[in-house]
Amino acid sequence: MSKEVNELIKQAAIKAKQETDDEPEPGLTSEIEWPVEVKIGRGLEGAIATTTKIGYVNGAKGWLVYQGYNCFDLAEKSNFEETCYLLLFGKLPTDKELRDFTEKLTEYRHIPEATLDVLQKVVTPETHPMSALATGVSILGNLDSTADDTSVEAETDVSIKLIAQLATLAGAIARIRHGKDPVDPDPELSHAGNFLSLMTGQKPDEVLERIMDVALILHADHGMNASTFTTMVVNSSLSDMYSSVVAGIGSLKGPLHGGANERVLYDLQEIGSADNVESWFKEVRETKRRVMGFGHRVYKAYDPRARILGPIAKLMTDRNPKFKRLYETAIKLEEVVTRELGAEKKIFPNVDFYSGTVYRAMGIEIAMFTPIFAVSRIAGWTARALEYLADNRLFRPRAVYTGPIKAEYVPIDKRS
Ligand code: SDX
Repeated sequence: MSKEVNELIKQAAIKAKQETDDEPEPGLTSEIEWPVEVKIGRGLEGAIATTTKIGYVNGAKGWLVYQGYNCFDLAEKSNFEETCYLLLFGKLPTDKELRDFTEKLTEYRHIPEATLDVLQKVVTPETHPMSALATGVSILGNLDSTADDTSVEAETDVSIKLIAQLATLAGAIARIRHGKDPVDPDPELSHAGNFLSLMTGQKPDEVLERIMDVALILHADHGMNASTFTTMVVNSSLSDMYSSVVAGIGSLKGPLHGGANERVLYDLQEIGSADNVESWFKEVRETKRRVMGFGHRVYKAYDPRARILGPIAKLMTDRNPKFKRLYETAIKLEEVVTRELGAEKKIFPNVDFYSGTVYRAMGIEIAMFTPIFAVSRIAGWTARALEYLADNRLFRPRAVYTGPIKAEYVPIDKRS
């Protein structure tokens, strides 16, 4: 079945090449001289925050590269551990480098008992797992005596710790929320395999492990997205990486960003079946509601990650037929939204549209969808914060002030 997953990815890459070219956008892939002049929209749309070698999102054409390698090749041929190494260190590792890095992840995957003790006291079934994840990272920072060493070397080690431990934290939170004890990481399993086993308490089969690995590769980095930028802004004050990542988790939780993947499932459940899509969409448009999982600040083309996750969602719902209706509803919704908003507003499925159907068909509860995103994006958050730290400058934009300038102070007894 893993061959089947690779074949899906290959076919997705061929389709992408048939539908679009991967010519980079002018002015976004060559060195620049600061200060730069750009047109900036609200929400810093179009603003250039820095230069980077970590990754490039070709929004016009719908391509994604990490350190020059395109996401289709990495999803088909790499694994999450190797992708993390690539993002952090700028090159594909040699066999020994990958073995050493993987051994470090295995060593760091265990988290201090005290962290689990606190989570078992504060996490309830009502706790949103992303809030619990932020709490867990904050506790890890409290317990790490190296946390306040903000040298690039020390923060690189903390970054590797966090890449290893976000999966352990998320797995423990998934179990504690339901009154179950956390399980220990298994040194024999891959990162993706461990993450599934830490959540479910069972060793995953090869297909589930491979699909989780592909999902983690695809979510690892994505330019100056809100949570990556948040992480970098906090780290640019020379705060510590734990504080920066706690902030990144907070940003990713929002439904306009990483939180969209769980909202898509609620939408699909609300729609109920493919037959209801047209009427549901009509009402959504009349009430100016956003269709979760569609649209993107940068992609004005089909999100390459959705090109891979869509077919994987079909594979998983074929394997788990009770979710077939969910997939059929999603396919119909894509057809309707693309018909109505694609050409006119360049609104297409983004990474969050099919990921939830994949996870649901894997037996993962909806509340854990966004934590999965964080377990992957910790790589991009830390890689970019480290890259920027090496040539740091505090992020501090301006706002245009539109209030009064010379107000006169009125004593309280004279105020109406
Ligand atoms: C992620 O940045 C990244 O790289 C993020 C990410 C990553 O890997 O880190 O790719 C992950 O966050 C993906 C996005 C997940 N969010 C959603 O799926 C939520 C639904 N999408 C939208 O809310 C929206 O598309 C955003 C927030 C993602 C982007 O919005 P923008 O760039 O701020 O666009 P906008 O709000 O200015 O909308 C422009 C127009 C508006 O119409 P008009 O008012 O001009 O008539 O497009 C419309 C919007 O109403 N529009 C949508 C829509 N998204 C935009 N209309 C209906 N449904 C939508 N989803």
